[in-house]
Amino acid sequence: MKKLLITRQIAEPVLEQAAGLFDLTVRTDGNPLTVADAAEALATYDAILPTLGDAFSADAFAGEMRCKILGNFGVGYNHIDAAAAAKAGVIVTNTPDVLTDATADIGLTLILATARRAGEGERMLRAGQWEGFGPKVKLGTHVTGKRVGIVGMGRIGQAVARRCHYGFGMEVLFYNRSPKSVDFPATQIRSLTELAASVDFLVVTVPGGAETRYLINADVLGAMQPHGIFVNIARGEVVDETALIDVLEAGKIAGAGLDVYENEPHVPARLVALENCVLLPHLGSATVETRQAMGQMALDNIIAWSEGREPPQRVN
Ligand code: NAP
Ligand code: GLV
Repeated sequence: MKKLLITRQIAEPVLEQAAGLFDLTVRTDGNPLTVADAAEALATYDAILPTLGDAFSADAFAGEMRCKILGNFGVGYNHIDAAAAAKAGVIVTNTPDVLTDATADIGLTLILATARRAGEGERMLRAGQWEGFGPKVKLGTHVTGKRVGIVGMGRIGQAVARRCHYGFGMEVLFYNRSPKSVDFPATQIRSLTELAASVDFLVVTVPGGAETRYLINADVLGAMQPHGIFVNIARGEVVDETALIDVLEAGKIAGAGLDVYENEPHVPARLVALENCVLLPHLGSATVETRQAMGQMALDNIIAWSEGREPPQRVN
């Protein structure tokens, strides 16, 4: 039997199926693999089902190699050096599509919660500081009919844009690496700063990694309008977090809704102190149904490899 490591606890039915097909080890401590852990796992197991934070950097692939496939749990795989994996003969797969709707829903949650000051309102109520309905209490920004800018018009970007267009009558503009046509009204803008300056809501949905690191920098944030709201459901490293905090503190934008951070799970105290931010703990795909589907897809890729078939969601 081939040896499989699953690096975190995932849905029971997926673990049960894996236990019937492989010599299975499931890590019980919730901490991500360090580079040294990852290297040891690559030398010990035939297949690994890792997830976000597990440090499969180039150094992890430098030593002895028994592993043939990393069936990543998650669509984003910026924690895996996929080129180094390929060089070491390790296939990498991911879990696209099954998490698109759940993640787009979190995008809308953040747009609405930030615009309508839901976090602030809830904190005030729970603190016993609500003095009743008032015509000027916690006034937010209207969402319906406004203009949204999507950075990265891929699966999740399009799902956010569809919700904004069909659900909220919003005008959709977007910035994308390559030219893209979509099946709903949306205008591609060639300059990211021009997009930032033109919209009421700027939503980031590009993958992480070297190509997009700090794509959202002080210039882009500085181009936003004072009433603008910034939302990131992609990866923390896409945004210069210090530059974001600077514009928020200076009141140069109205607020931010964040699901991801530069050094997760660390969230800077300066960010936590800001009332005009809604801060979620990386919940994009966190529904029971979605997490089960992600686990199944990750395992199905490993099963395909073990049966000599091409893993369907191969990325390298
Ligand atoms: P996707 O379908 O591959 O879409 C990515 C889009 O970003 C593509 O349209 C791509 O353009 C564009 N892009 C890539 N690099 C770019 C660059 N340098 N400048 C501008 N645009 C660029 O991926 P997806 O399924 O939508 O997922 C996107 C990301 O969301 C994932 O990689 C992951 O990091 C993140 N995510 C987060 C959560 C969460 O829990 N918050 C959940 C799921 C996913 P092209 O058309 O040129 O390829
Ligand atoms: C979650 O962030 C993912 O990339 O699946």
